[in-house]
Amino acid sequence: MYQDFSKIYDALMQEIDYAQWADYLFRIMLNHPKEITNILEFGCGTGNITCELAKKNFQLTAVDISEDMLVVADEKATQQGLHNISFFLGDMSSFQIEQTFDAVIACCDAVNYLTSIEQVQAFLYCSQLALKDRGLLIFDINTSSKYKEKIGDHTFTYDLEDLFCSWQNNPNFKEGYIDYELTFFVEGEDGRYDRYAETQRQYLYKVEDIYRCLKHLDYKDIKIYNFGTFHQGSNHNDRVVFVAEK
Ligand SMILES: C[S@@+](CC[C@H](N)C(=O)[O-])C[C@H]1O[C@@H](n2cnc3c(N)ncnc32)[C@H](O)[C@@H]1O
Repeated sequence: MYQDFSKIYDALMQEIDYAQWADYLFRIMLNHPKEITNILEFGCGTGNITCELAKKNFQLTAVDISEDMLVVADEKATQQGLHNISFFLGDMSSFQIEQTFDAVIACCDAVNYLTSIEQVQAFLYCSQLALKDRGLLIFDINTSSKYKEKIGDHTFTYDLEDLFCSWQNNPNFKEGYIDYELTFFVEGEDGRYDRYAETQRQYLYKVEDIYRCLKHLDYKDIKIYNFGTFHQGSNHNDRVVFVAEK
């Protein structure tokens, strides 16, 4: 997962406004009564949100399970002259660290890569251990209605400068997951194209099941937002954001 794909991740995500996404997280954090200075980010990927938050002067500790994604993230932080980020290779369902944080975040459906509700529970537990008292947890998921109605079994193609990608979706809704079969061709300096192929699997979770896990771990003041807003979110939205206090 996320090996060669790290080479093209940013090209495929170019329509996402990460500065706006970081602003939204910032507004959620501003609503929290305790000041937030340091943040632990799980599933940081190529560091797009990480760098935006670092520019806002937060101290970031960013974790990903893919070394290839971390290499890209680290280069990006260096290029942008950001010195307030530490990167770690790790799994959000078992990660432990001695330091504690004002906030833990996991963005852009990183949590949908966890393979069972028990793993989601383990991620919530690791986050709880890493949070200071009254620290804030923020994460989002793609909802099952997005997987069923928007992503489905469609095939997308991207024909970009230096890159051609075919993204084929193979859902297994009965088992609660969807596979993405990615084939991409990247143009080299000599004008020839190298072919790469990678499969990724994301899992469908119901909002109420994640809410139950948060309650079970005694998280407080749990809010569920329709992504990008402060309105109540539900399984009918494409993406929902969970915000909870330790
Ligand atoms: C869709 S990308 C999101 C990346 C980034 N948050 C963003 O906003 O662009 C999901 C990321 O989660 C990472 N990931 C998946 N499972 C993980 C796990 N168990 N622990 C840590 N990272 C994980 C993947 O390697 C990938 O970089």
